[in-house]
Amino acid sequence: MITKNLEIDETFLAGKLLRDGKLVAFPTETVYGLGARADSDNSIKRIFDVKGRPSFNPLIVHVASIRMAKDIAIFDKQTLKLINKLWPGPITFVVPLKNDHNISKFVTAGLDSVAIRFPKSTIAQQILLSAGVPIAAPSANLSGRISPTSASEVFEDLGGKINAILDGGPCEVGVESTIIKTDPITLLRPGVISPEDIRHITGTEVFLSHEDASITAPGQLKSHYAPKAPVRLNVHNPEPNEVLLGFGDVGNATLNLSPSANLSEAAKNLFYMLRKLDQALSKDDFKVIAVSPIPKIGIGLAINDRLKRASAPRY
Ligand code: TXA
Ligand code: MG
Repeated sequence: MITKNLEIDETFLAGKLLRDGKLVAFPTETVYGLGARADSDNSIKRIFDVKGRPSFNPLIVHVASIRMAKDIAIFDKQTLKLINKLWPGPITFVVPLKNDHNISKFVTAGLDSVAIRFPKSTIAQQILLSAGVPIAAPSANLSGRISPTSASEVFEDLGGKINAILDGGPCEVGVESTIIKTDPITLLRPGVISPEDIRHITGTEVFLSHEDASITAPGQLKSHYAPKAPVRLNVHNPEPNEVLLGFGDVGNATLNLSPSANLSEAAKNLFYMLRKLDQALSKDDFKVIAVSPIPKIGIGLAINDRLKRASAPRY
């Protein structure tokens, strides 16, 4: 089932499907998520199955309120300050699980911490409210591939394998949520909410996680978000075997993330355009996706992070 022009009935139905243990893909302000009841071992196992996701890579639990989050995990003073300012929104917090939580151990990959997010998207909120239970939702792509920012991209990867896909149009932000681990506050994944935004609220330093900090961020794999074609970064003059994904006023781009060099627009277009170029490359002789340099400021940090993973050697 794919729905267009979402009505309240459809989000209500999606919530009911989730409550019944089914798998439903739905839009959030960042990317589309593949949702399932976070308290159901069986539903969560199906998520790992259909995505082909390694079981050691834990999922983000999505909630419809701060109260719901507090039923699951422990929030220290500083984190409470952050969630009060930044939720609902495109930021996830990795916090200690409470003793009496009912989250499936498959969600957390057996860790004693849990990643939680209260999304801002109205459609996502309506679905979560209708479900009435915490919903685990990784990005709705096959594992290791590019996150989807539209319903048709979800369909390309997961069509026929899941119970429903809700079409809420293109995602507003376009890259996944910022992930913060608390105590001490550490950035695990850059997103639209920046370390500076966090520093402003807490007045304290934000640590950056190391590239190979495999314990704190099991999912921060070096090669990720990968198109099938190789990717080369910071390119001014593409080689004859390359197509250029441009940024700013470049004349020779096949697609341009933002001709006016607007980083928010570039983030919104990034995954969609990488997919489009990848599909085109599989049909003709061009072999490599070359990408213009993108400033490493604001959401440009998140864009460069995703591009770096897309261009990393595959194992
Ligand atoms: O914007 C988003 O966050 C989207 C939408 C759907 O909400 N979701 C998303 O989920 O990007 P996913 O599964 O693609 O990424 C979740 C990341 C993984 O890198 C995983 O390793 C990390 O969260 N994560 C989850 N639980 C963790 C934990 N306890 N400790 C450290 N990292 C954790
Ligand atoms: Mg993902």
